[in-house]
Amino acid sequence: MSFRTTPSVDYVEDVSPGSGALPPRAWYASSDARSLSLNGSWRFRLSATAGAEDDSFAEEGYDAGNWADVTVPGHWVLQGDGAFGSPIYTNHLYPFPVDPPYVPTENPTGDHLRVFDLPSDWPSDGAAVLRFDGVESCARVWLNGTELGEFKGSRLPHEFAVGELLKPGSNVLAVRVHQWSAGSYLEDQDQWWLPGIFRDVTLLHRPAGSVADFFVHASYDHTTGEGTLRVDSDVDGRVLVPALDIDVATGEPVTVAVRPWTAETPKLYDGVLATDGERVPLRIGFRTVVLEDGLVKVNGTAVLFKGVNRHEWHPERGRALDLETMREDVLLMKRHNLNAVRTSHYPPHPAFLDLCDEYGLWVIDECDLETHGFTEQDWRDNPVDDDRWTPALLDRAARMVERDKNHPSIVFWSLGNEAGTGRGLTAMAEWIHDRDPERLVHYEGDWNCRDTDVYSRMYASHDEVEKIGQQLDGGTRKRRELPFIQCEYAHAMGNGPGGLADYQELFEKYDRLQGGFIWEWIDHGVKHAELGYAYGGDFGEELHDGNFVCDGLVFPDRTPSPGLIEYKKVIEPVHIEGDGANGIVHVTNKQDFADLSALAFEWSCQVDGETVESGSLSVPALAPGESAEVKLPEPPVDGRGGERQWTVRALLADDTSWAAKGHVVAWGQFAVGARPLPSFPATDRPVPDEGRITLGPAAFDARSGALLSIGGVEVGATPRLDVWRAPTDNDDGAEWQTDTRYGMLWRTLGLHRMRHRLVSVEAGDDALTVRTRVAPAAREVGLDTVYRWTSDGERLRLSVSVTPEGDWTVPLPRLGVRFGLPEADRVEWFGGGPGEAYPDSKAASMVGRWQSTVDRLQTPYVRPQENGARADVRWVELGGLRVEGDPEFWFTARRWTTEQLDAARHRTDLAAGDTVWVNLDHGLHGIGSQSCGPGPLPQYFLNAEPVEFSFVFSTTR
Ligand code: GAL
Repeated sequence: MSFRTTPSVDYVEDVSPGSGALPPRAWYASSDARSLSLNGSWRFRLSATAGAEDDSFAEEGYDAGNWADVTVPGHWVLQGDGAFGSPIYTNHLYPFPVDPPYVPTENPTGDHLRVFDLPSDWPSDGAAVLRFDGVESCARVWLNGTELGEFKGSRLPHEFAVGELLKPGSNVLAVRVHQWSAGSYLEDQDQWWLPGIFRDVTLLHRPAGSVADFFVHASYDHTTGEGTLRVDSDVDGRVLVPALDIDVATGEPVTVAVRPWTAETPKLYDGVLATDGERVPLRIGFRTVVLEDGLVKVNGTAVLFKGVNRHEWHPERGRALDLETMREDVLLMKRHNLNAVRTSHYPPHPAFLDLCDEYGLWVIDECDLETHGFTEQDWRDNPVDDDRWTPALLDRAARMVERDKNHPSIVFWSLGNEAGTGRGLTAMAEWIHDRDPERLVHYEGDWNCRDTDVYSRMYASHDEVEKIGQQLDGGTRKRRELPFIQCEYAHAMGNGPGGLADYQELFEKYDRLQGGFIWEWIDHGVKHAELGYAYGGDFGEELHDGNFVCDGLVFPDRTPSPGLIEYKKVIEPVHIEGDGANGIVHVTNKQDFADLSALAFEWSCQVDGETVESGSLSVPALAPGESAEVKLPEPPVDGRGGERQWTVRALLADDTSWAAKGHVVAWGQFAVGARPLPSFPATDRPVPDEGRITLGPAAFDARSGALLSIGGVEVGATPRLDVWRAPTDNDDGAEWQTDTRYGMLWRTLGLHRMRHRLVSVEAGDDALTVRTRVAPAAREVGLDTVYRWTSDGERLRLSVSVTPEGDWTVPLPRLGVRFGLPEADRVEWFGGGPGEAYPDSKAASMVGRWQSTVDRLQTPYVRPQENGARADVRWVELGGLRVEGDPEFWFTARRWTTEQLDAARHRTDLAAGDTVWVNLDHGLHGIGSQSCGPGPLPQYFLNAEPVEFSFVFSTTR
């Protein structure tokens, strides 16, 4: 019988940040010092508890022959087809008892082993460092059997000196990773819990005399046009910037004329920091960030942030992102007019920040810190207000600032997210202000702004934002003197967000409002064989927050959702407005730094949505903030007398690093005259005939008044009043919301199960009139609905009049008719497109002639819900029918019913039936942002009121 000692695992529950690691320093890739990537396939063994196995696996010669493999960087729960456990999603609840700093005994622990050969030409002199860029959540490391130390701080780098332990030939690197640790209490961000070595592991040669740490200070004086560069370095050397003829010693300032760096004009100068031991490439951006006159200014100019919160996400690899995925994010952001990103809620992979420098994005770099779960106990025992944790907090602050300090794109350091308030945060802010006075400090959780240089909030309503803009919001004196940003707003969960244009209007109106950051960039859906994309609960988690993890402007595969298209339009860098009747365009440059010389302008004229003429428009290279009026050519003469409009577009005049020449950055449309409405003489009379009634091209059932066919087109289900939509996440609202949540009230009232009572079918002289009352069981409220059918022999007009009865205290989800067609695929329409739009998310809906198919009309929200409406539709053709609206209408078509859409949890639950269901809506209720923020503004409510609207049907076959 043999005994094994249980290894000590005390470090796992120790509040300290760890031991053995080197002090933090700048992250860089040397030009000449050797490095060896240890990414790739590692041997892997999973244990159920932290101390299940002894540490003999770290010794040389250990036989890991029966171990599994995992890919590093990676999360083990996303590998091994479920054999290594599953992801867990919680928003703010800790998925373990709140018993700080202790964690459950059940603590999945992954032993990782990598045997690597030191290249034969690896220099034998100098030192070497082993760098981990990210391990969740706690790791203990050995090289060749010697323990190097242990660390916490998942999204922060940790380095160990290993020179003396390295051997020629084969080396054994062993890493024990615990899913839960004291560090988990500091990492309660709203995301999947995903253990593993999820960022790079690299061995770095450190030649004698090599750079240790360095700090690039590159400021810009907008009054002189000069930049001042000083590179402080732990090891003396020279700083070379050939394009500026700079060759100075480290630590020495030099001032020269430069082009400044801004997110709009991201000019970087390539330089080198040369010491005896190595050469380090520098990418220098000159800019000065200050708080002045109550505003955040860069290079003397106040900046308007048009930003987004970005979590790192890949549907298969979780937070283990490759460079191409990071670049895709940046390119998508640039192509959609964004200028800023908050790295919610932790420092991203450093390569992402290189991309922000290069392509131009303002960055709020946020520390890996959130203790949100303590809100459940009124923040009692919150680590940020408990001195025992302060070393860990300071360690996190230092690891972020030291790693990232040389990025010109970073303008704010953020202390973290949703961690309440406390001395530890103050200590972090003091340390950061002291270490880097050239940037500002952000934190949302303290509304008194004790430690911060900006007043920041999340999900404040339009009203409140306006008050803040007007400085009527009160607060501490310190706060009143600070500018305001919304570090999170417009919750992009499912369909939405609505109300973006209204926020942007406020941001542009009041100087104090310096913009905001949408929540959030990407849906964290996990690719799943049966479900398409999985969300919270799909892995059987005992606690979870469902699809709250899918709230991005792009779908999990990075396809832009309509929310991103809307945001792009709302934050256009150029505003194009027009007076169509007089042929005048007003162009305003809404950028903060760049003139319009990078853009070319084009006009086109449409008749009934079809472009009949186009040409280029000469617009002066307006400076930021300037406007000009430009005359359009004479509108083309068109004998058809259709609806005429102008479209003016601003396009990239040349290729840029982020989009090709011709890429549209902004547009405006304006009507030349009013739309001619479909006019209609009701010449035919309804003719009863053996249980049927014919009227012009149409046949009806004489008893029910149901439409059966129009011309040769069979109608599967007659048009009848419909008020229901599959509630969106924003309709449902979040359960903690105190405002009325209409999604719930609609269901309580029974709007999803309306009954139709036929009152009469009257065949009159010139019309067939069907009277009904539509109402939910158990309620007194109802909608008196009259369908009046007329025809001119070829066409058929349906006029619907609706009169609410009773006390309607809720708005309606939608109001229109729904009918079924047995066959329809191709769809063409004249109206808003190409994508979906709702009353408060229709800025990007462009009036034109659009084509699609029924399938492509659907927007693939990860959790199925109302989607796909097209706005301002004049006419639509599908399934052999043409429908013209009087007035314009909202159009939706899908291969399942609203009820099926409502019942589905995943897109894979939706199966095409044998009917295409078409909704023609006179009105839709707004979308808002209530899944985490405010609901729709009152002007986007669809109140129950008496209305009348018409559709004219004809056949296209
Ligand atoms: C915020 C939080 C985010 C996210 C968002 C809702 O309170 O900072 O991390 O949870 O709400 O999606």
